[in-house]
Amino acid sequence: MGRVSRTVVLGVTGSIAAFRAADLCSALRKDGFEMRVCMTRWAREFVGDLTFTTLSNNPVITDDNIGDFADRPEHLALGDLADLFVVAPATANILGKMAHGVADDIVSTTYLSVQCPVLVAPAMNTRMWEHPAVRENIAVLGRRGVRIVEPDEGVLACGDIGTGRLAATESILAAIDECLS
Ligand SMILES: Cc1cc2nc3c(=O)[nH]c(=O)nc-3n(C[C@H](O)[C@H](O)[C@H](O)COP(=O)(O)O)c2cc1C
Repeated sequence: MGRVSRTVVLGVTGSIAAFRAADLCSALRKDGFEMRVCMTRWAREFVGDLTFTTLSNNPVITDDNIGDFADRPEHLALGDLADLFVVAPATANILGKMAHGVADDIVSTTYLSVQCPVLVAPAMNTRMWEHPAVRENIAVLGRRGVRIVEPDEGVLACGDIGTGRLAATESILAAIDECLS
């Protein structure tokens, strides 16, 4: 028997918006997706693993926790399972790694291991978002077919006003729907 439900692998990176990935994870699970979450070391500074373990109903994969994947390297196991790979929030750092094939943590190695559609929802300060280095990385990923859910404009966590807020959960869900239809 094949798998019945589709699996979303959610990569969470070290943005102040990391807590909002919990809402996204919860909404996707309620929508019937099997959820698998991997987190960078920096993401875990913002939100505890236990939040995502509970919301995804699966062990969270981190650089020092292989979860339930004893028989196969965890990034490859996630690549086997993924029907969609979502990185939300996506830091400037992970976008740079993805654009350039750097694979030095669980989220970046998983990106290189998946063969499914990939969606990123960036979140960062406006100055970072508008920096030519980030613009170029976004362009590279876009050309490669990565779906980019542009950040919203508004008051940022740092108090600045501009573009960089993680897109609303509803917008990310709508983009996921499109990717999978
Ligand atoms: C309080 C705080 C908030 C941060 N928020 C962001 C953010 O929203 N976006 C971003 O790109 N980087 C942000 N950073 C910087 C990243 O955490 C840093 O670049 C880190 O190396 C990212 O690692 P990761 O991509 O492996 O998770 C923040 C750092 C701190 C201390």
